[in-house]
Amino acid sequence: MKALRWYDSRDVRVEDAPDPRLQDPKDAIVRITATTICGSDLHLYDGFVATLEKGDILGHEFMGEVMEVGAAVKTLKPGDRVVASFPISCGECVYCLKGQFSLCHNSNPEKELQDKFLGNHTAAIYGYSHMFGGIPGGQAEFVRIPYADVGTLKIPSHLPDEKVLFLSDIFPTGYQAALNCDLKGGETVAIWGCGPVGQFAIRSAFLLGAERVFAIDHVPERLEKARAAGAKTLNFDELKVHDTLMELTRGHGPDACIDAVGMEAHEGGFIGMYDKVKQLMRVETDRPFALRQAIMACRKGGVLSIIGAYGGFGDKIPLGAMFNKALNIHECQAHVQAHWRKLLDLIEAGAIDPSFIISHRMPLAEAAEGYRMFLEKRDGCMKIFLKP
Ligand SMILES: NC(=O)c1ccc[n+]([C@@H]2O[C@H](COP(=O)([O-])OP(=O)(O)OC[C@H]3O[C@@H](n4cnc5c(N)ncnc54)[C@H](O)[C@@H]3O)[C@@H](O)[C@H]2O)c1
Ligand SMILES: [Zn+2]
Ligand SMILES: [Zn+2]
Repeated sequence: MKALRWYDSRDVRVEDAPDPRLQDPKDAIVRITATTICGSDLHLYDGFVATLEKGDILGHEFMGEVMEVGAAVKTLKPGDRVVASFPISCGECVYCLKGQFSLCHNSNPEKELQDKFLGNHTAAIYGYSHMFGGIPGGQAEFVRIPYADVGTLKIPSHLPDEKVLFLSDIFPTGYQAALNCDLKGGETVAIWGCGPVGQFAIRSAFLLGAERVFAIDHVPERLEKARAAGAKTLNFDELKVHDTLMELTRGHGPDACIDAVGMEAHEGGFIGMYDKVKQLMRVETDRPFALRQAIMACRKGGVLSIIGAYGGFGDKIPLGAMFNKALNIHECQAHVQAHWRKLLDLIEAGAIDPSFIISHRMPLAEAAEGYRMFLEKRDGCMKIFLKP
């Protein structure tokens, strides 16, 4: 089959790869009909995630048609149309039973690697390094789905791929970011990052009762999409984010702050240079600039919801502000399977159409160019719908 394989920082190639086969009775094999590139893939592309190996197949947002199922798969049969969740989860451990699917204790076959990096191990993620299981990803023609009953959502035939593909990751992820804000109704939420995750976080914050959403970025078409959802936008190239948020909230700060940027935040000036140099020298893995700003801006006793991905170690995190302002901090890889049914219902009811996020369509064969384009946010690139 053809698949997108990682070779080095900024070197990915679509080439031949072995066809996946059933390895466990709970597995299924799926023929991919649609896939895409996530902001998290950019961290791999840029070489900031350890334990990738040359030739690894990337991709954790995908959907397709079930071709084959193992003897222990109960809910699927060949021909079913499914979306896959990016966390791979057993469905039976204490974490899965609590709905914390991305914390699954059993699905990571290379758990010793993660134990070393994180002190314990979390769910495997398709195509996301060996620390996350070394499981081949879905930017490919076919994929193996471990624990297939838990990691797939059946899709009714009348919904096109474009509307449901993002249930795999960014829609539940944006929803999770807003859910983690513990909104009761009427709150002010500030969101750093208007990429695909930020866009779904904005819409989810309103769905969950936020009264005002401030969206921070500097990419014009992304700010435009944030405004279209009802957010007030702040272009960080044009104003002082902290001061503006304080003015907008009469000196208190937003009730909840979402970091939807993660480890590769942009920042000019001395501190930006400091983070970049330390990251390049590998003495700091993450550039936590948006996180620092969110901590400083958040209201006393407010919620800090971290959904942008962090991989290792950050520097100059304002612990004093976090502690003395009594912030409530929630962060996670999204527990996709806990939310996707509810979100599918919203799509079916016409309450939201996630295809608004698609800016480009390409065949899988051109995915390497897709990575470059998405990284550079070139040509208005927001989200690429890839078809094998
Ligand atoms: N927790 C999860 O489950 C999960 C799932 C998917 C993605 N993610 C992570 O979410 C983050 C966003 O993903 P995406 O697909 O939207 O990526 P993206 O790269 O398309 O978007 C990031 C956005 O942040 C903006 N940005 C950069 N620096 C900023 C700053 N200082 N202030 C405000 N905005 C800034 C960029 O201009 C860009 O628009 C990534 O870190 C990704 O790894 C997490
Ligand atoms: Zn992702
Ligand atoms: Zn589990």
